[in-house]
Amino acid sequence: MGNRLFRKKSIHLLIAETADDGKGLKRSLTAISLIALGIGAIIGAGLFVRTAAAAANNAGPSVTIGFIIAGIGCALAGLCYAEFASMIPISGSAYTYSYATMGELMAWIIGWDLVLEYALGAATVSIAWSEYLNKLLSYFDYHIPYEFCHSPFEVSTLGAHGIMNIPALFIVFLLTLLLIKGARESSLVNGIIVLTKVAIVILFIAFGWSFINPINHTPFIPESSIYVDGQGVSHNFGGILGILGAAGVVFFAFIGFDAVSTAAQETKNPKKAMPIGILGSLAICTVLYILFSYVLTGVASIDDFRNAGKEASVTYAIQTYMTGYGWLGKLVTVAILAGFSSVILVMLYGQSRVFYSMSRDGLVPKLFSDVHSKYRTPYKSNMLFLAFVGLFASFVPQDIVGDMTSIGTLFAFILVCIGVMIMRKTNPEIPRQFKTPWVPVVPILGVIVCGAMVFGLGWANWARLLIWMGIGFIIYFAYSIRKSKLNKK
Ligand code: ALA
Repeated sequence: MGNRLFRKKSIHLLIAETADDGKGLKRSLTAISLIALGIGAIIGAGLFVRTAAAAANNAGPSVTIGFIIAGIGCALAGLCYAEFASMIPISGSAYTYSYATMGELMAWIIGWDLVLEYALGAATVSIAWSEYLNKLLSYFDYHIPYEFCHSPFEVSTLGAHGIMNIPALFIVFLLTLLLIKGARESSLVNGIIVLTKVAIVILFIAFGWSFINPINHTPFIPESSIYVDGQGVSHNFGGILGILGAAGVVFFAFIGFDAVSTAAQETKNPKKAMPIGILGSLAICTVLYILFSYVLTGVASIDDFRNAGKEASVTYAIQTYMTGYGWLGKLVTVAILAGFSSVILVMLYGQSRVFYSMSRDGLVPKLFSDVHSKYRTPYKSNMLFLAFVGLFASFVPQDIVGDMTSIGTLFAFILVCIGVMIMRKTNPEIPRQFKTPWVPVVPILGVIVCGAMVFGLGWANWARLLIWMGIGFIIYFAYSIRKSKLNKK
């Protein structure tokens, strides 16, 4: 049994499989294209929705400090991710890399955990999409009734109860159809969306700056207390615990930068371009995020984010406090809807790709790698994940799915940091196109900073992560270990 848990997929086999697919990768990406790739996947609901939630529930204006901590954690983990990715000469995800380097059990844990990052991440962004859709409709004097754009666990300030989040389900459905038909974002579309997203962030910072009300920033770090939100959930508010909690929540805003490391094999001169791509996109986003959250929490108050401005918070702040900038509010709403759609698409695609690999390895049923005869996409997998993601999008509040995404991804990052240290000892001979600097300092700091954010997310989220991983272990020992293709060797 012990041997089975640590059996590895051979790197030669991995290369042979890629060759079979006929997808020889061309080295065409430069550092600049990597940065664009990163920013395209990064800026989304984390910034435009979770920032206000973290300010309301955890940290007030000091959510800004939370962004700094989350950015540092990502940079440390990102450097480890890049070494991991550059060891295996094919494109793939943390699942693929760990199967070849750390063995089957670890690969299973990471693959199973990535469902939290991709599938629940997509659900979170779709719920955020629903908020901004409602905002867009309000320009035409129309509102989707509260009941039909909220989960059954949510109650409005006026006492209306949610039933189902239909717009969130709708966007997941629509994008799944596109994925089944084989839609992948072209680099042109990605480029346009990146420019638009960055532009609205900069416009908001530039125009919002003069509307900052110093009262909203005082005190910058609120005193420690317990805040019970409208749904009866209590949060550590203020002080260092509040900041760590906020860091865990807005960590969501950085998810996606790991997409850069998966392109290691398509990059010209990856030794130089990889760290520039990863750290560059992170640095740009971190600076934008700090300024953005500083302005947002200065323009509107904690009370706004807890009550009327809880949803579509950025547009709310512009419309309520930035007189004369109604046009910016409208522009932001439209841009956000487009930007969120592209993030959801990337996440749904990533999810089906991870399960495709796991299915080819026999760890999950074959139907996850069955390909449509005409579109050549894993349509059955896409449809099953439509049901799974749709269930969360329709019936679970955003705070819960968002924080589960954060904690799941943080856990994967911690494993990757540990993995890099282990691999330096066990497999020093495998060539690495990129090496993490200052091992073991960087990975250890990565574990500490990401661990602090996991801590900040609180026991309810630890319990959810444990339950999810528990389910994963049951499936692994009841099914995957017996069905693994490596059994046939
Ligand atoms: N970082 C992505 C977002 O904030 C997932 O939407």
